[in-house]
Amino acid sequence: MQNADWDALCARAADLLASNRQEVDGHRYTAPASGAGTPGVYANQALWDSCFHAIIWRWLDPDMARDELLSLVSRQVSSGPDAGMIPHMNYWRGGARHHWATDTHSQITQPPLIAVAARLVYDVSGDRSLLEGVYEPVCAFHEWFDRRRDPDGDRLVCLIHPWESGWDASPRWDHALGLENPTHDEARAARLALPAHLIAHDFDAAALAGAGSYCVEPVDFNAIRAADLDALAGIAHILGWEGEAIRWAQRATAVRDAIQARMFDGLPYDLEGPGEKPIRQESAAQYITLFAGAATVEQAARLVDQLRQDRHWPAYPVPTTPVDAPTFAPDRYWRGNVWLNVNWLIYQGLRRYGYDDVAGTLAARSLALVEQSGCWEYYHPLTGQGLGSPHYSWSAIVVDMLASERARGQ
Ligand code: GLC
Repeated sequence: MQNADWDALCARAADLLASNRQEVDGHRYTAPASGAGTPGVYANQALWDSCFHAIIWRWLDPDMARDELLSLVSRQVSSGPDAGMIPHMNYWRGGARHHWATDTHSQITQPPLIAVAARLVYDVSGDRSLLEGVYEPVCAFHEWFDRRRDPDGDRLVCLIHPWESGWDASPRWDHALGLENPTHDEARAARLALPAHLIAHDFDAAALAGAGSYCVEPVDFNAIRAADLDALAGIAHILGWEGEAIRWAQRATAVRDAIQARMFDGLPYDLEGPGEKPIRQESAAQYITLFAGAATVEQAARLVDQLRQDRHWPAYPVPTTPVDAPTFAPDRYWRGNVWLNVNWLIYQGLRRYGYDDVAGTLAARSLALVEQSGCWEYYHPLTGQGLGSPHYSWSAIVVDMLASERARGQ
């Protein structure tokens, strides 16, 4: 990419993120989307969104990247059985009580990418205050996962609401929600009914699993967690705490080993329920194992073979559900659309395993979506049409993919 094109892309991303930037009570964060035509819920701060926003902001305004992550961890739960949890949503202007027993934040979480994001911001800014600010909260967050979300002690965390996965409406979760080929409204009703049930069971994963409630161990979520534990080890190392660095690196390895032992049969899969029944569905989540280095070289080759098939790689890759699956529904969110934050995770994994050309094409096709349609929440994989909400912050993550491409001389 030429310098002028890069500058223009950064200027566009900066405009978008600045238009979604919020400042409340001295805390700064970027809303997923804001303004006319956007559901009010997107004005709140969402956990994995903020991590992607920080990774974008590092190229535009590293101080804002730092503030984004510091505001995210500032609403960490500080007491009770869930002390250490970082909420999937911070409601800086209140309003959480609609679903939850608190007003300021949700009581469930989302993919833990905070150490990953902080480490990447530090690479550009060299700002140790960010690492010092997130280190303790992120340590407590990972301790919380082990304490509260691994009732069977297999090192794989379980989720108690589909919102925690970030893939809210994925067909991967239909069966665990007791649904079969649900309509949009049926699936939505099931998700909206769940918080009251979680509150009634004090968010206790073991009790919920015992009660037959939604309970899954997703392969992508656990892979992201392994990568975050690695990043936490890297942060401890930078801060000079070698013993802790070793301890976190060992935890990352234990999670990767568990993924390898329990979630791979040639190709990776998710597990459902206390009985850990495999969820045998192909999806873009399988490729996220590469992000964590959780696949062997042979498994990675098999994954990339699958990824290159037209059904996973249509005009605009990568649809969350392959285009020939019976559940493929490109207009329904998380049931076969392209999400650029997911593409970023896949891009990183491809680079990690040396599939630089495939990664380069993925970056170029992701950029094509933004250039043709703008930054939308998600996209149609066959036409490239923007779907969901417009002016969506995380789709500016193409900036980071393009920065990597430029660094390798493309
Ligand atoms: C949607 C997505 C979720 C995201 C949230 C805010 O609910 O499914 O992954 O975090 O929007 O962007």
